[in-house]
Formats: sequence, C-alpha cells, structure tokens
Amino acid sequence: MSDNLRPLLAGNWKMNGRLADLAEIDAIRSRVAAGAAGQAQVVVCPPFTLLTEAARRCGGSPVGLGAQDCSTAPCGAYTGDISAEMLKDAGASFVIVGHSERRAGHGESDALVRAKAAAGLRAGLNVILCLGETQAQRSAGEALATVAAQLEASLPEEAAPERLVIAYEPVWAIGTGITPTPTDIAEMHGFLRRRLAERRAGGERIRILYGGSVKPANAADLLNGADVNGALVGGASLKAEEFMAIAAVYR
Ligand code: 13P
Repeated sequence: MSDNLRPLLAGNWKMNGRLADLAEIDAIRSRVAAGAAGQAQVVVCPPFTLLTEAARRCGGSPVGLGAQDCSTAPCGAYTGDISAEMLKDAGASFVIVGHSERRAGHGESDALVRAKAAAGLRAGLNVILCLGETQAQRSAGEALATVAAQLEASLPEEAAPERLVIAYEPVWAIGTGITPTPTDIAEMHGFLRRRLAERRAGGERIRILYGGSVKPANAADLLNGADVNGALVGGASLKAEEFMAIAAVYR
C-alpha cells in the first residue's frame, strides 16, 4: 500500500526570490517546526542563488532544500551549468528534474532528463522526476500513453525507491488555475503506481506527487486521494502563509 508513505510537500520557487525572500523560508521553517505540516516532509526549492544561505538557515530544522535542475556532469567546462555535486555541497538534499518548463523551454529530452536524474542520485540527492501531458495530448485521449512513455524513457536505471519521487504535473494545469478533477488525478496516479510496481522492485514505495495550480482552497480535494503522496507547488509556495495553508491537509 502506497498510502502509508510519508507525504512530501515540495515548493518550487522557479525563477523567483531574492535574499529578502528568505524571510519566507524562515517562516516556513518555524511553522513546520511547530507542527504546521503534521507528519509531512517539507522541502523548498529556491533558485540556485539562494540555496547556500537557505541551507544555513534551515540547518538542523525539519525543512529540506532542493534545487530545480542540475547538469549531468560532476564538474568541468560547462559554462553556466551547476552540477548535482555542487548542489549537495550547497546544502540541497533534493533536485527536481524534467520539469515541463525545462522540457519545453530548454528542449530537454527524456534521455537528458534520465541522465540528470542519474546525476542527482550519483551525488547523493533525492530526485523529483516530473512528468505530464499537454492539453492537446489530453484532448486527444493520449494522457496516459504520454506519461507512460515519459516514465519509461526518463526513469533512471538504478534508484532506491526512497530516493526517487515522481511528480505528475499536467502541463495545462501549471500556473493556470485550472486543475484536473480528483477522478483524473486518481486515474493517473493509480496508473503510475501500477507501472512503478511492475517495473521496479519496491516501486510501490516511490512517492507520487501531484503538481499544477495547488492552492489552499483546492488542496484537500486534490491531495487526499489514493496514491497521491504529496504535492509539488509552484506559485503558492512563495509565501509561507499560503504554503502552510496547503500543508494543513497533512495535520
Ligand atoms: P503552480 O503551482 O504555480 O501551478 O506550478 C506548479 C509547478 O510547476 C510546480 O513545479
């Protein structure tokens, strides 16, 4: 049963946040320490520039830190890139790979996403692997097939189930305020759960997050279903108040 997995509430800040915004991470840290997220694990993924200072502030607290992307190489002549080893060194314990904004905006293929996931694991990070169909694919009745193909081609070969997290993020739900129905989410998460269990020893222990327009008002509807083991939150993770209102579903 996957439903006794510890939920993961992860905030993806995307390209938002300056030093002054670390006050939000301070507030998240103290609210989580006071029990605001119940038993859920809380991770914030700020931009690279804030990681080191965020990690200094969150040291010894229950709030973990993640990055939003990584290089496939450990180091070398890759101008502008950041390796998973550097992220680990900066204090990250998670890395997001394969976000649709990178697949679409930076032309990242499934093979590259798989290599990035492998790099994150190599460096000792936990990996959040994002999958999701476009509106056109859903309208054509291809949502499950699209996500299955992404999973097949971007899942890293060797991954302890506890170190890997899948985030189902329908592209059309990201930043739009439009969400799938709980029935659609249940169908996709159930499908992913079965695939993971078939493909991997321990696949039933891989957490599957939902992401796309999660807000305090819809969190209970979207996140309480079977095989929804947490959320990957964009816009609503930027303010501690809103993020912790979502966390309240885990109390
Ligand atoms: P929003 O919550 O802003 O829709 O973003 C979701 C997302 O892309 C998280 O990775």
